[in-house]
Amino acid sequence: MKVTKSDITISAVTPKQYPPEGLPEIALAGRSNVGKSSFINKLINRKALARTSSKPGKTQTLNFYLINDIFHFVDVPGYGYAKVSKTEREAWGKMMETYFTERENLQATVLVIDIRHQPTNDDVAMYDFLKHHQIPVLVIATKVDKIKKGQVAKHVKRVKETLALENGDQIIPFSAETAQGKEEAWRVISSYLPHTNGGKA
Ligand code: GTP
Ligand code: MG
Repeated sequence: MKVTKSDITISAVTPKQYPPEGLPEIALAGRSNVGKSSFINKLINRKALARTSSKPGKTQTLNFYLINDIFHFVDVPGYGYAKVSKTEREAWGKMMETYFTERENLQATVLVIDIRHQPTNDDVAMYDFLKHHQIPVLVIATKVDKIKKGQVAKHVKRVKETLALENGDQIIPFSAETAQGKEEAWRVISSYLPHTNGGKA
């Protein structure tokens, strides 16, 4: 997809704050600091529309980014960051659960996994949660620039096996540094958007 327009619509916590229009949404999910916001920026050719950081915990709210006036990317705070209090973790859980279980605009979720590491228990729980709620998942195995080319297939296999990826859910090796996997990611995301022609627009 050729992105000609992207802007933040709103940072939301409660459903009342979600954008009121019926536009389709593609949400992100994944561990803190794995590269969710960087993924969005790379896809829309913006350096820092979605705020990123080398320190975990940068994204704190549900951030809705309007793309070409046709859909929203919804950036979310990551899980698995040790330095958060129980109260904060519970607030995060409630915000995420409400969004993922109640939001009708949600078409699919991009689950971002670090290709270098075996998915954590939290990653597996997130994948199972999404499947339980019948939300299509695209797995982005990110930071592929950090491993040798010859190792990619082996690492992808490990991610697939650990998540027990269901038929129909795709996995794409990706890099926000080199843009590897960007076109393929757009193809899959476009296929989840009702009003596009497969990303050729
Ligand atoms: P939270 O908002 O804290 O949950 O993090 P996040 O998942 O949004 O991660 P973010 O995009 O902020 O990236 C975290 C760090 O990883 C930053 O320092 C990025 O530059 C780096 N990073 C993200 N993607 C890639 C990638 O594909 N390759 C490399 N080498 N670094 C990456
Ligand atoms: Mg982020």
